[in-house]
Amino acid sequence: MTLDLPVTEAAKITVPDAQTVTSVTKWTDSLFSFRVTRPASLRFRSGEFVMIGLPGDNGKPLLRAYSIASPNWDDELEFYSIIVPDGPLTSKLQHIKPGDQIILRPKPVGTLVLDALLPGKRLWFLATGTGIAPFASLMRDPETYERFEQVIMMHTCRTGEELVYGAELVNNLRHDPLLTEIYGDDFAQRLKYYPTTTREPSPFMGRITDNLTSGKVLSDLGLPPIDPAEDRAMICGSLAFNVDVKAVLEGFGLHEGANSEPREFVVEKAFVGEGV
Ligand code: FAD
Ligand code: A2P
Repeated sequence: MTLDLPVTEAAKITVPDAQTVTSVTKWTDSLFSFRVTRPASLRFRSGEFVMIGLPGDNGKPLLRAYSIASPNWDDELEFYSIIVPDGPLTSKLQHIKPGDQIILRPKPVGTLVLDALLPGKRLWFLATGTGIAPFASLMRDPETYERFEQVIMMHTCRTGEELVYGAELVNNLRHDPLLTEIYGDDFAQRLKYYPTTTREPSPFMGRITDNLTSGKVLSDLGLPPIDPAEDRAMICGSLAFNVDVKAVLEGFGLHEGANSEPREFVVEKAFVGEGV
């Protein structure tokens, strides 16, 4: 549901780095996405994150890291957000509406960038929950398909409704005029999508770690065994997820890289928690 509510003067912020909200979409009781104006000077690599927020009760900016979910060619910036009950930022951010302003520090950073990977044939995006946000950017960037023959988006959530943002995005992308013009009607073959749930029934189920280790995702999608010479991956989820997927990929002979030293996979936390 897209909220299209009138602008309230009270929501105006008079601080540096303010950007205006252009649309808000609620996906579930605890997930929403929103788009904001893009600072003219902001350049970023698809997959990076920035600090965004709102003025706190003490007047100081209340900022959190957010992956930019839109691709780097987009005129606006998109974000995909959790609502944490009593979360300092998201308990306020969930109420934003078109015309309101947020704070956006225009200093993009992050490890989930194409430059941090060695060239390869297939690129795996492995995400849980809001960890799909950086891949929402990378999936919409034509450069991803220039560098890799195939992209496989594995996204796992507890329930089916939590998958809808990603499912709609992939569906729209498969009919995207720019990408289908470049790659023809078989673009769907270049972007494979493997959504799974773990706590309610759906066509494909199970944790990403289990589906990789068992090879189920490979047989379901008709892909060859993971090969360090051909497969590259990016991981974005909770710390526990990242640690476990990293171990699975290392078991296949892949190594973690970074901007300064490109290798076969890169990792970034989707949020800070669990005592970290
Ligand atoms: P916080 O005080 O920040 O968080 C409270 C607790 O909520 C955390 O300890 C954690 O247990 C849980 N939590 C926080 N964020 C999440 C989440 N995304 N999913 C599940 N549990 C969570 N959040 C997004 O919603 N979208 C993004 O694109 C995004 N990108 C991030 C990129 C990076 C590099 C990092 C480090 C974090 C990112 N986050 C993202 C998390 C974000 O920075 C905030 O933590 C989140 O917006 C909640 O803010 P808060 O102030 O309401 O609660
Ligand atoms: P599960 O339901 O089996 O715990 P959460 O909401 O707790 O962050 O989890 C989001 C999704 O990630 C859930 O489907 C969850 O599966 C899965 N998940 C959580 N931790 C791990 C992990 N360490 N390895 C693989 N999948 C995980």
